[in-house]
Amino acid sequence: MINEKFKEAFEKTKIAGNIAAGALNQIEKIIKPGVSTNELDKICYEYINDHKAYSAPLYYRGFPKSCCTSINHVVCHGIPSEKILKEGDILNVDVTAFKNGWHGDTSRMFKVGEVSIKAEKLIKTTYEAMMNAINIVKDGIHLGDIGSAIQTHVEAEGFSVVQDFCGHGIGETFHKEPNVLHYGEKGTGEKIKEGMIFTIEPMINQGKYETKTLKDGWTAVTKDKTLSAQFEHTIGVTKEGCEIFTKSN
Ligand code: MF3
Ligand code: CO
Ligand code: CO
Repeated sequence: MINEKFKEAFEKTKIAGNIAAGALNQIEKIIKPGVSTNELDKICYEYINDHKAYSAPLYYRGFPKSCCTSINHVVCHGIPSEKILKEGDILNVDVTAFKNGWHGDTSRMFKVGEVSIKAEKLIKTTYEAMMNAINIVKDGIHLGDIGSAIQTHVEAEGFSVVQDFCGHGIGETFHKEPNVLHYGEKGTGEKIKEGMIFTIEPMINQGKYETKTLKDGWTAVTKDKTLSAQFEHTIGVTKEGCEIFTKSN
C-alpha cells in the first residue's frame, strides 16, 4: 500500500483529481449536437469554483479558458469558443483542478451522437493504450516501458502516437519533470520510483503522427487532418502498482 512518506501528496492530489474528474462528469451531461464548447467551459469553470478550487489552465501562459476542448482533428489544447458541436464529432475535454496547492489533471473523449466506426475504434484503442501503460506502472520500471506499452498497442491497430506532446510530473507544480513520452523502448529512460506522481496522456492519430499549431498559438492539429484522440489520468506510483487519482464515469 502507500508509504506514509507519500501519503499527504497522494491524498492532496486525489482531492484535486476528484474535482477535475467531477467536472468531466458534469460536462458529459450536456454534450449533444448544438452545444458550444464555451458552454462546456462554463460548466467546467463553475464546477471547479463551486468546489473551492481553481482551474489551472485559466491564464496559464496566457491560455484564455478553463479547459481544453479538442474536436476531431484537433490533437490537444483546443480553445473553447462559440464553435457548435455537431452529430458525429468526437472531442477531448481536458480539465486540471488546483486545490490546496495541488493539481489533478485528466481528460477523456466524448462522442456527439452517433460517430463513425473508425472514430469508435480510435477512441477505444487510445483508452486501451493508456490503461495498458497504467497497468504496468510500479516502482522500478523504466519510463520507456510506459512509452513502449502505448506505442506497441497503438501501432498494432494501425494508428500513430503523437510525439510533440507528452505526459508530465505534476504536484504543487502543474507541469514538472519527468517528461512521460508515449512512445519508446522497454528498459530505457529513467526508473520510476514509489511516490512519484505524473500523468499518462497519449494522443493518438488515425493517420500520421505529425502535428502543427494554429495561429492562435495553442490549438494543435494533425498535419494530415485525420482524427486524433486522447485520454489522461494523474497517477501515483506505489511499490506494487499505482493509484489513479482522476477516476470519472
Ligand atoms: N491539461 C493539459 C495537460 O494535460 C495542459 C493544458 S495547458 C493549457 O497537460 F494552457 F492549454 F490549458
Ligand atoms: Co497533463
Ligand atoms: Co490535461
